[in-house]
Amino acid sequence: MHDPSGVLTCYSVAPSLVSMISSQSSFHFTTSTALDPSLKWASGKRWLVPEFSELWSKHQHRRLVEPFCGAAAITLGMRPDKALLNDINPHLMNFHRWLQCGLTIDIPMEYDEAFYYRSRDRFNQLANNGGVSSKEAASLFYYLNHTCFNGLCRFNRNGRFNVPFGKYKGVSYQREFAEYQQAYANWTLSAGDFLETAVEPDDFIYADPPYDGSKSAFVGYAGIPFDWQDQVALARWLAQHPGPVVTSNAATERITALYRELGFTLTTREVARAINSKGDGRDAVSEMLAIRNL
Ligand SMILES: C[S@@+](CC[C@H](N)C(=O)[O-])C[C@H]1O[C@@H](n2cnc3c(N)ncnc32)[C@H](O)[C@@H]1O
Repeated sequence: MHDPSGVLTCYSVAPSLVSMISSQSSFHFTTSTALDPSLKWASGKRWLVPEFSELWSKHQHRRLVEPFCGAAAITLGMRPDKALLNDINPHLMNFHRWLQCGLTIDIPMEYDEAFYYRSRDRFNQLANNGGVSSKEAASLFYYLNHTCFNGLCRFNRNGRFNVPFGKYKGVSYQREFAEYQQAYANWTLSAGDFLETAVEPDDFIYADPPYDGSKSAFVGYAGIPFDWQDQVALARWLAQHPGPVVTSNAATERITALYRELGFTLTTREVARAINSKGDGRDAVSEMLAIRNL
């Protein structure tokens, strides 16, 4: 539903997702308990929440902006009053929008291979026939995320979700998401390329792009990779922001050189990562945190 000011409100029917999805709720909630993401997300940053809290603590009056929000581990961990969440993946942003609207999942969800593939077909039917913004698509997105192989989110060039069934001991599914509705009440959501994120000069930006050299950067969303040119464009875009900026990336030689040249302060750390398809092997990879104007 569109209100006269052009703001898209919850329970709207099929809004254009590659545009601003905003809410200005008349309610203001003061609770600020950290929440865990409701989705599994590759390179999710739940582990960074304690360290990020220290960087954020003196800036809580600001709006927190995540141009590559994924499952939004950092914003959910901080629970700011004001936030802007953006991602290029319209299905992911539709799920966030339904969390904001007050999601209750009422479709059947079963941990069963044949059921999974039927649900995947139904999701792809919706995704390719104008049903991207529906509650059913958001519910199926949650179900697929928790049932597919390693919680991956991968689409082919035709926009079809193509991750196979995941082998787990079992899956318990959540149906009620009321606590997220409270958290999201004053947050703005948008779906698009990071360069189109509507950033204000005072905003605190946390950017967590596909990592340099990673498989997700190579495959990208729906076959559109996040290549070296995108890494350079991102670093320059972040460097011209007058407010505080924190960004994560792989600590490759060219990434650390790029951010140093642009005047960022860098720290690096070794982070344990699953290294094989079963997720039972782990290795340490070097990660960078680059900071400016803090
Ligand atoms: C490393 S993940 C972010 C994980 C997130 N911090 C979390 O905790 O879940 C990177 C995200 O960037 C998104 N992305 C890729 N290319 C993008 C682009 N050009 N603009 C905006 N988002 C993009 C992907 O869809 C993915 O969700």
